[in-house]
Amino acid sequence: MQTRPDDPTGGMTVPQRLWRVMSYFSQPRSGWIVLTLAVLIGSALEPTIPALLKPLLDQGFNSKELDLWIIPVSVVALFTLRSSASFMADVALAKIAQTSLHSLRKKMFDCISVAELELYRKQPATALANTIVFEATNGAVLLLQSITTVVKDSLSLVALVCYLLYLNWELTLIVLLIFPVVALAMRALAKRLYGLTKASQAAVDKLAYVVEESVLAHKEIRIQNAEAQQRQRFESVNTLLQRLAMKSAIAGSAVAPVTNLFGSIALSAVITVAIVQSQSNALSAGGFVAFITAMLMLIAPIKHLSEVSSTITRGVVAAERAIALVETVVAERGGDFVKDRSTGQLELRGVGVTYPDSPAPALVDIDLAVQPGQFIALVGLSGSGKTTLANLLPRFVNCTSGHIFLDGVELRDWNLQSLRRQFGLVGQNVVMFNDSVLNNLAMGQAVDRARAQHCLEAANLAERVAALPQGMDTVLGHNASALSGGERQRLAIARAIYKDAPILILDEATSALDTDTDSLVQASLRTAMVGRTTIAIAHRLSTIRDADMIFVLQHGRILQRGSHAQLMAEGGAYEDFIRLT
Ligand SMILES: Nc1ncnc2c1ncn2[C@@H]1O[C@H](COP(=O)(O)OP(=O)(O)O)[C@@H](O)[C@H]1O
Ligand SMILES: [Mg+2]
Repeated sequence: MQTRPDDPTGGMTVPQRLWRVMSYFSQPRSGWIVLTLAVLIGSALEPTIPALLKPLLDQGFNSKELDLWIIPVSVVALFTLRSSASFMADVALAKIAQTSLHSLRKKMFDCISVAELELYRKQPATALANTIVFEATNGAVLLLQSITTVVKDSLSLVALVCYLLYLNWELTLIVLLIFPVVALAMRALAKRLYGLTKASQAAVDKLAYVVEESVLAHKEIRIQNAEAQQRQRFESVNTLLQRLAMKSAIAGSAVAPVTNLFGSIALSAVITVAIVQSQSNALSAGGFVAFITAMLMLIAPIKHLSEVSSTITRGVVAAERAIALVETVVAERGGDFVKDRSTGQLELRGVGVTYPDSPAPALVDIDLAVQPGQFIALVGLSGSGKTTLANLLPRFVNCTSGHIFLDGVELRDWNLQSLRRQFGLVGQNVVMFNDSVLNNLAMGQAVDRARAQHCLEAANLAERVAALPQGMDTVLGHNASALSGGERQRLAIARAIYKDAPILILDEATSALDTDTDSLVQASLRTAMVGRTTIAIAHRLSTIRDADMIFVLQHGRILQRGSHAQLMAEGGAYEDFIRLT
């Protein structure tokens, strides 16, 4: 997700971001309780292994005071306990990750289902899919794993250091000197990685977008011989991604050598001091081995801790993107007015639309009224604002000035679902789902085979569907590409008939068809229009001639209005338009 100028996380540091993100992973409580207990037990057991070595060496080998069975039994018991704790911790962690992830994914999908349509103009499908499917999962898993590492290893460190202090505080002080070095290195790293990870995320989106376009436009690309150009587009992002990944890897791997260097310095210092101490008999052999073992055991958690900041950063960036979707996407807002079936009476008063980032208005000062059952047509050159006008009615676009009324109630006071129930829409681009004919027809409504059959007949499609392998249960494939353009268009009309809405919007529903199929589509449209208020955008005389009222649009304004006969008599833009078509 692109960061907006009003991004609330603007100046936050990585730990602050982490805190904010973690609130989304607070469930289930039982998981956290088990995890905490398991981690505490596991870490507390950490120093018991060097602690066992001391009596073994000092008493077991030297003075044979120890019973033979004690050591092996304690080792097995200890490792059993430790493994159980670690198993419980892993299961609890998975439970937390999967529960939170499930609800986060649900929230995100709910969000895009009700978002203002602006979202789909701003973010390509691949970016949204990437956020919901990939980034969220990635973020949740990375984050929770690394958080557990931090807690587990910090606790192990504390336990080990306490044991070391108890054994020999002078030696321990030397060891402790390396901690600030590790902390400093980690801080510098986190900052650098945050920027790199953000950039990689954007690059992955771009890469996915190029793939999406190449797949959708594969025919256009081949016919234009644009494969090389497309490959080059892909390659440049691909290379960028590789560079960013290398930079991240280098930054991430640089910490361990630095830490190791300081670790080895500390180790040599400890050994030197220990030898001096043992000469004065202040240190037993068992004590020395226990100390060195415990000290070497520090290395693993320190190493994990120094590496974890890169994983945390990656996790935070990924989770933030998912959370940004949930938190910043604005839901569409409707009113409370609910009506089962409107009469279909529409009125536009002084309506204007200016798209964001667009210099000229798309519609200016539109006044028009449609009576129930009337058939009105909008004509005009491409870009004159016809689609914008049609999109206003189901509120796919909101007017920037003026008022629109349906049954005397302003559109913005209508409950959105109730409002959209009033419209059947057959658009320029027919979109079908990869589902059966029947489900494509019913879509969102109760499935009724008899009604579906009736609608297919009305749309002159019954024979074609009957010829499909499983009739109306045949699955259509991606966007029903096995059907011809005219068939798809008639299927869209059948869908509108099935919905049986009081108002029908036809946006160039016949534009892409040849005259042969066009007459079939025309016939099915006529059936669909019976008893409905119809708003048709068309450039075919056959469609508009019978309209009760025709509105001629130009540059977003209504230039002429009247019946076909009136407008032809009047001459001017309409006559020119008819002559052109
Ligand atoms: N989503 C949009 N964002 C910005 N401008 C748009 C958008 N949709 C349409 N326009 C502009 O609004 C004007 C009217 O477009 P449209 O309603 O699609 O016209 P028509 O359907 O008559 O061809 C055009 O100038 C077009 O470029
Ligand atoms: Mg249009």
